[in-house]
Amino acid sequence: MAYKDLRDYIRQLENKGLLVRIKTEVDPILEISEITDKVCKSLNGGKALFFEKVRGSVFPVVTNLFGSFERMCLALEVKELDDIGKRIEDLMNQAPPKTLIEKLALFPKLLEISKYFPKQVKSAPCQEVIEKDDPDLGKFPILKCWPHDGQPEKAVRSQKSEVRSSEIRDSKNEGRFITLPMVFTKDPETGRPNAGMYRIHVYDKKTTGMHWHIHKDGARHYDKYFKMNKRMPAAIAVGSDPAVIYASSAPLPESIDEMLFAGFLRRAPVEMVKCITSDIEVPANSELVIEGYVDPGETRIEGPFGDHTGFYSPADPYPVFHVLCITHRKDMIYPATIVGKPPMEDCYMAKATERIFLPLMRLDFPEIKDINLPMEGVFHNFALISIKKSYPGQAKKIISGLWGKGQMMFAKLLIVVDDDVDIQDLSYTAWRVLNNVDWKRDTVFADGPLDALDHSANWPRYGSKMGIDATRKTKEEGMMREWPEEIFMSEEIKKLVLSRWKEYGID
Ligand SMILES: Cc1cc2nc3c(=O)[nH]c(=O)nc-3n(C[C@H](O)[C@H](O)[C@H](O)COP(=O)(O)O)c2cc1C
Repeated sequence: MAYKDLRDYIRQLENKGLLVRIKTEVDPILEISEITDKVCKSLNGGKALFFEKVRGSVFPVVTNLFGSFERMCLALEVKELDDIGKRIEDLMNQAPPKTLIEKLALFPKLLEISKYFPKQVKSAPCQEVIEKDDPDLGKFPILKCWPHDGQPEKAVRSQKSEVRSSEIRDSKNEGRFITLPMVFTKDPETGRPNAGMYRIHVYDKKTTGMHWHIHKDGARHYDKYFKMNKRMPAAIAVGSDPAVIYASSAPLPESIDEMLFAGFLRRAPVEMVKCITSDIEVPANSELVIEGYVDPGETRIEGPFGDHTGFYSPADPYPVFHVLCITHRKDMIYPATIVGKPPMEDCYMAKATERIFLPLMRLDFPEIKDINLPMEGVFHNFALISIKKSYPGQAKKIISGLWGKGQMMFAKLLIVVDDDVDIQDLSYTAWRVLNNVDWKRDTVFADGPLDALDHSANWPRYGSKMGIDATRKTKEEGMMREWPEEIFMSEEIKKLVLSRWKEYGID
């Protein structure tokens, strides 16, 4: 059964012994971040952390909700993340019906999807408390995650000094970021809604940054408002049931409503309620909703922020969000994530994306067998792909094709191997790649868009990427030598050695 809300999921984590309650008072400035980082990096991602007493706020904080395979599966209510991919594959793999019987057989599947459309409700837990007169972000336990967050002059490595100051400014409000938000906007032309997870830099009690990268759907909506010179309504929801939170981070095409996708994941529609000050809709079960607007053309320096690359992402001008109204549950629980050097919680969200989106990639590229986005590649830096190769140049086609597909455009290194390589085994794959590649023949470079977080290229958001074809080469691809056979011991000898093992006296 779908989780009713965030607290329902928290209850489940607690019942399963996967959540620790911290009763001692902790500081939202850096202390919660350091505790969470330590736990994230412990064996199997540790446990979720519920901080009951947070200095300066009456509300508790919960972190590391998704930070292990076990919790990610529990969040999406599956045994394995591949189970969702299989459901999607099942939906997609429909040959056009030919007979009446086949048409009728398709009907329940279409009906199943129609059950997941978001449902509008009139009253909502997220509007138990409504603060319209003097909304104040300062009363919430919004975290400062890393020492130089929000301090542009500190986060850039100085040419002269290698050592960075660890001094923290006096102002407690500097460098606080909402790290697990769901930003809701609407396309002003089509009315189509979008939810995107874009971190929120809190400037003061009524103003924040709006960090949608230019490649993202929220930014596309903003561009349209900008051209119309119209004020853009937006809402930031924090804390909902886990499928809704995850769906906001999923790289869905603009035409698919994240809330429909969340409904599909949780097998029940997401209940949505209209904001108090605009017709933007937000999940009714949210813990906190910040309503407001973005004025076209108004920008302010956002960041720096200790990001999931493990470096501070640069301070850059981004649109400004003005708070008009804050609504929340009476006993709000504030969820946050800490991103930084992997492995961190968001790595498991990326792993969910890898598994869920594999069948969708196969729609365009049926030869793809598997994909692996290693955690060290922090989502976009590195993708391994195995394919069933049947014609010359196919691996290079996959490389170009993936660079043209949605957020795969950010993949800085794509390595394609044959389908007999288990790409989830990184050591075996590295061995295969290093042996199989003639670097000049098998490497392709392309210039193009890069993720806004990339700091290596000469310019922001634009640079080069590399693809490596590490498949077996054929004569048609210019390989004039025989491809060698991989070494395997014969089964007969393996069995013999196994049966005589004790005789050898080896431990
Ligand atoms: C914890 C977390 C924080 C993120 N922060 C940002 C961000 O600040 N800006 C951004 O553009 N994308 C960010 N992303 C990635 C987007 O959520 C992701 O690309 C999503 O698909 C965007 O939705 P959209 O396609 O509807 O724009 C973040 C992802 C996660 C998991």
